Amino acid sequence: MSDMVKHPETYFSGFIPERDGLLRKLEAEAEKEQIPIIGPVVGELLFVLARATGATSILELGTATGYSAVYLGRACAPAGGRMVTLENDPDMAARAERNLQEAGLSETVSVRTADALATLPKLEGPFDFVFLDIEKKDYQPALSALSRIVRPGGLLIADNTGFRDTNAFNRAIFDNPAWRSVQILSFLPMHSASHDGLCFAVHVPEE
Ligand SMILES: C[S@@+](CC[C@H](N)C(=O)[O-])C[C@H]1O[C@@H](n2cnc3c(N)ncnc32)[C@H](O)[C@@H]1O
Repeated sequence: MSDMVKHPETYFSGFIPERDGLLRKLEAEAEKEQIPIIGPVVGELLFVLARATGATSILELGTATGYSAVYLGRACAPAGGRMVTLENDPDMAARAERNLQEAGLSETVSVRTADALATLPKLEGPFDFVFLDIEKKDYQPALSALSRIVRPGGLLIADNTGFRDTNAFNRAIFDNPAWRSVQILSFLPMHSASHDGLCFAVHVPEE
């Protein structure tokens, strides 16, 4: 049996995925302005999962400057996928639109200036893939609408599930037989926060 590496955080910090100039610019802005973005490890994770699942209909709740939307848009664009991302702060939404244009993703990603909780009941699905990253107390109220618009077999990923305000969501999805879910406590360099939970759930309404 092999031993674990001695300093896992230092060790795994050596595997932060490469980013292009746009993503690095957004990271620098986020650090300067204290904007809580997912960072390159979770960004790459979203890319891997969206691409591997063949998601072509993606919904994001919580855009900020569009950093995570760039990863998801790039994952689905080659297959002709489409993504909608909701952001309730008009200045952030405008910045995200500019950044997505710079990424060449204006045709793929539609940024809507809207409150997620007010908009979700009006959204038409089905979505293959949802990334949940809004105000943490809003996660649980979003869940029933998400159960309506995520297709059977669709994937829901919730960020920041180590924050206390996501507890109601964590309990609700854990107890809901229409979702199979798992919580992963992770070390996430450059993620806000660097030790945090992520919830991965697949919609299984008929089982
Ligand atoms: C954590 S940041 C999103 C970061 C982004 N996903 C990224 O990693 O690049 C959360 C964003 O969601 C927005 N937000 C919070 N609650 C919201 C809600 N109920 N509806 C829409 N946007 C919301 C905030 O204004 C903020 O810009």
